[in-house]
Amino acid sequence: MSEATQIVAIDGPAGAGKSTTAKEVAKRLNFAFLDTGAMYRAATWWAVDQGVDLDDGVALAAHTARMDLDIQESAQGQTVTVNGTDVSQEIRKPEITKLIYKLDQNSEIRQQLVALQRRFGEKQPTVAEGRDIGTVVFPKATCKIYLDASLDTRTERRARQMRAKGLEVDLEKLRAEVHERDEQSKNRVDSPLRQADDAVLLDTTDLTYEEGVNEAVRLARKVL
Ligand code: DC
Repeated sequence: MSEATQIVAIDGPAGAGKSTTAKEVAKRLNFAFLDTGAMYRAATWWAVDQGVDLDDGVALAAHTARMDLDIQESAQGQTVTVNGTDVSQEIRKPEITKLIYKLDQNSEIRQQLVALQRRFGEKQPTVAEGRDIGTVVFPKATCKIYLDASLDTRTERRARQMRAKGLEVDLEKLRAEVHERDEQSKNRVDSPLRQADDAVLLDTTDLTYEEGVNEAVRLARKVL
């Protein structure tokens, strides 16, 4: 695999602030931004929308292989399109989030999406965020950051995001869901979430968003 371009890999658990941080880091470095979670979300949405049996791994992988996925980032936000349908809002709904584990454990689906991610990163300097960017997708990334925060802090941040969208939040339930997703990501056989040996841990529990971004940019600039 060629990794001719510069890659900043940002991994970490749900709610650590990867998306917002990675997006801002990309902007400041003038790099492209790649939200790999949006790809797993889009694949899940499409399988649900088309009534594919989520417990049939072979059918799921064959179905995902036909997905025409487009992700555009702009100052106005992110637009995710699957086979021409704008699913930017739908893929963030809790009912989709809850089902992603059915796809993200499927090795064939992971290979398909990893291939798309590598193609993206080979074309332009990229800040990519996800769970396996530094370990699997871009093992030779120029800069690897593992973004973490305590479970309580991550739950609080997710709650704030949801409330901002007008959604009701049951904090205890949300905390349990965030914890469950941590366990699912960390314990799956294929590409489990873990800090790459050469990644720098950036714990944002006691940092503001701005402080987290500044530190990530500083880490990236040190090696770019
Ligand atoms: O970052 P996110 O919450 O949008 O990610 C959605 C799900 O996709 C998450 O539960 C784990 C999965 N995912 C993955 O398995 N590998 C990635 N590189 C990114 C996300």
